[in-house]
Amino acid sequence: MVSTSDTTVLIFGASGDLTSRKLIPALFRLSQQQYLSSRCAVIGVARRPKSHHEFRTEMRDTVQARLGENKFDAAAWDVFAQQLFYQQLDITNPDEYATLRTSVQTIESQVGAGNASARIVYLATTPDLIAPAVEGLSTSGMIPPRESESLLRVVVEKPFGRDLSSAQDLTIALSRHLQESQIYRIDHYLGKETVQNILLFRFGNAIFEPLLNRNHVDHIQITVAEALGMEGARGGYYDTSGAMRDVLQNHVLQLLCLIAMDPPSLFHGREIRDEKMKVLQALRPGVIGPVGNWAIRGQYAAGLVNGQPALAYRKEDRVNPNSNRETYVAMRVALDNWRWAGVPFFLRTGKRMPKQLTEIAIQFKNPPLNLFSTVECDGDLCDLVETRPNTLILRIQPQEAISLRFSTKRPGMNYQVQPVSMDFEYGDHFTAQLPEAYERLLLDVMRGDSTLFTRSDELEAAWRFVTPVLESWESSNSVPDLYPAGTWGPTSADRLISETKSRWRAPT
Ligand code: BG6
Repeated sequence: MVSTSDTTVLIFGASGDLTSRKLIPALFRLSQQQYLSSRCAVIGVARRPKSHHEFRTEMRDTVQARLGENKFDAAAWDVFAQQLFYQQLDITNPDEYATLRTSVQTIESQVGAGNASARIVYLATTPDLIAPAVEGLSTSGMIPPRESESLLRVVVEKPFGRDLSSAQDLTIALSRHLQESQIYRIDHYLGKETVQNILLFRFGNAIFEPLLNRNHVDHIQITVAEALGMEGARGGYYDTSGAMRDVLQNHVLQLLCLIAMDPPSLFHGREIRDEKMKVLQALRPGVIGPVGNWAIRGQYAAGLVNGQPALAYRKEDRVNPNSNRETYVAMRVALDNWRWAGVPFFLRTGKRMPKQLTEIAIQFKNPPLNLFSTVECDGDLCDLVETRPNTLILRIQPQEAISLRFSTKRPGMNYQVQPVSMDFEYGDHFTAQLPEAYERLLLDVMRGDSTLFTRSDELEAAWRFVTPVLESWESSNSVPDLYPAGTWGPTSADRLISETKSRWRAPT
């Protein structure tokens, strides 16, 4: 495999937000940690003419502003800046790719990259530019022949289409010139340390895995909640997308795959993705009948988030004032397989919820016989209630943690049960800062490891599941259920879960 030291990274869409906010900071951190050799060039590619110096200054200003004066290491930046270059290109103009190719070769010889240097083309562009970019790379001879396919890897950012058929069109456009192994579809959730730890927690320990099945689990809740609304100019994009396409179809379903998949025979990309694929193939609506029986969409109205007034979605900048776009989705789904038959999975994601929180909560079944009474106190007021079931919570962010709730004897002369929890917090055990998702993912592309990237069949299976729901919402005259900003979503979503005698978690 070609080592990271022989890699050139071309970022198409270098004037965009993603480049300055995520990609350049991630590459800078990799350089600081010596992952990026001095023979690796990072080339920003965008439409406007700009000198290398101007690009470096722009990037430095953004990274410095983001990190703050104290945390910004100017000396380390100067080292990294030596490897940072800029090339003007109109992605839609095939005639300009010959110049791009020559400039890349010049830069590669300048940094001393070898002839077998691999190139990564990161398409941080709008989806409509993906096909022209790949065409341009092809006509300029920048796509290597099949036998040396690993010398070019193309990274694609979501959205990967907006429904099943557009996702299939995108796959066809990419596969016209590229092999599947050259395509790296980024879902940044898979780069998060705590998401990767799901597999290690499950398959690197012997005691939890035997419990994760229909015999012991009552239900599983997966939550991706955000307190943010439409910051910056985001409303324009979001109003064409919505919570289902933006987060549920990708991040939430990936979390579902990781928590529900069977152990892979090998800890390799293909085996892991094969197991995830089986989960998506087994995915079904959690209840029979119309979509409304198992999927709820919501939209935030005005409210208070963290004590601050928040606008209604329809009043946000660049959002259609009559928009019916969903900012919240909740679903009850099921997995028709041996392990999970009969276990409900509750999925939800939303903007303008009370806080940012991503977690997977596995609620176990109650003991077969309730021998003890449970005391729960609110201040001095204590009451006897039903026993709380054991819950295992994998908190992905923030305050990354794993916690197991169980019952103990409340000290005293009677057998009274009190729920307590055993907590592992990353911050208590590891002093090193958790790497940013993009650091890990960029490094993996450089290493040629596609384990944490979405394969085309996974993508299609996810779209196959959500597209009928989107079509049903878009073809009906129904409107999303409103919820005040700063709450856990519309009350209609409670119906999905209350049938199982449970409640959505509302962690404080
Ligand atoms: C992105 C979505 O993919 O994920 C955003 O487009 C969302 O709308 C973001 O805010 C959430 O990611 P994170 O890492 O902040 O949880």
